[in-house]
Parts: sequence; C-alpha cells; structure tokens
Amino acid sequence: MKFVDVCLTHQELENSYCKNKIVVIIDVLRASSTINTLLYNKVKFVKPIEKLEECKKLKNHGYIIMAERLGKKVNGFDFGNSPTKINSKEFNGKKVALATSNGTKAILKTKSSKISLIGSFLNLSSIIDYINKENSSVLLLCSGWKGSINLEDTLCAGSIIYGLKNFQINSDTGLMAKKLYESSKDNILETMMKSSHAKRLSSYNNIIDIKFCSKKNTQPIIPYLKEEKLILL
Ligand code: MLT
Repeated sequence: MKFVDVCLTHQELENSYCKNKIVVIIDVLRASSTINTLLYNKVKFVKPIEKLEECKKLKNHGYIIMAERLGKKVNGFDFGNSPTKINSKEFNGKKVALATSNGTKAILKTKSSKISLIGSFLNLSSIIDYINKENSSVLLLCSGWKGSINLEDTLCAGSIIYGLKNFQINSDTGLMAKKLYESSKDNILETMMKSSHAKRLSSYNNIIDIKFCSKKNTQPIIPYLKEEKLILL
C-alpha cells in the first residue's frame, strides 16, 4: 500500500519522514512557484540557499542572485522572489541562487528523500501524474511561514492528494488538506486571497504574484533536487 502524508511546516520535519519517499516541497507564495517559473524559462539550474551571505557570494561566480525576506526583495540582490519578474531574455541559460524565508530552507532539509520535487499549482498535474506512476509513498512538505502553517501551501497539498490514485492518507493533516481543497477547488484565487501571506503581499500592492501563483497547470514541468541544485526531471 502506498501512503501519502502531509507535514504542514518545515520546522516540524524530522529527517526520518523523508527516507525512501517522494518528497514534494510546496511553497505556493512564492518559492516553489518562482523555482518552477525559473526552470520553465530555461535557467541552467536554481541553487536553493539558506543564508543571505552565502547567496550573495555567488554573484562573483556568475550567478543571478535572488533573495526575499518578509515577502520583499533584499537590498543588494538582483531580484527578490517574484515569479512575475522572471523573463526568458534575462534568465535563459543562467545559474540562479535563491534564498527565501521558508521555501529554500524547506528544500535543503529533504536530502534524505528518494527524490525531492518542487510542487505548486503551476505544475500540479505534472506532479500528480509523476506520483501516480511511481511505486513509492509520498510526503507533501508545506513550507509554511516562520513555523506557522499557511492556507495556500495546505490547499496545494490537498489538491495533490485529491488527484492521487491507490494511496492511503496516513494522517489527519492529509485529511484536513484534502477537505480544504475539496471545499475550495472551484475558487483557488478567492481562497488564497484570504491567506495571511496574500494579505502581506497585497499590502505591498503585489496582487499580480498571487494571481499568477493561483493558476493551475500553466507550466507543466517537474523541478527536482540533484546534488543541491534544482533542475528539470
Ligand atoms: C517563503 O519562502 O516563505 C516565501 O517564498 C516568501 C515569499 O516569497 O514571499
């Protein structure tokens, strides 16, 4: 029997949770959406970074450096963490280093997985189809926000569970996530707009990112972690 489980914040993640599993890291607003968009725009790879200082050093090694804190671009970096600022002209073929508040930290915690995938609404069906074809149990790792659960990541985890076949939901968190999606599946954007993170981004007049990250299957690719770099499967 294949199992699916949900971890609602990366702070709750125990290393053992990842072993021998497909792990899908979800940070809808916005790290996983941004990473998907970067690889969809044909960057060479995305290197997820925890600390700002480490990210900044890579500028001297030919990287585009991107960093976000509290939802805003960090001074001294080329870009923040906005998927709508990414264009193939500037990014095609480039090495990218990305440091965000939660999402990149979550990714770096999953190295003991069988494989670590990046999931968002943008590549929802690609992720679901991949998992349904594999014969492994799955952990859906929501990044959350500074140790708290968030609505949009949990909603996306529920949308993945909703599409899985022949999987047993292994926890109440999985049941909750699926129920949340079932109650909101026809109005993802409207539901996301109620989230604390969407309110934070809206307060910076950044509605465009929320709308962009709420769209399903606009970028049918699968980013995965290989030797601490994110590339296309
Ligand atoms: C995060 O890592 O928590 C998010 O990606 C932050 C953001 O982009 O607003």
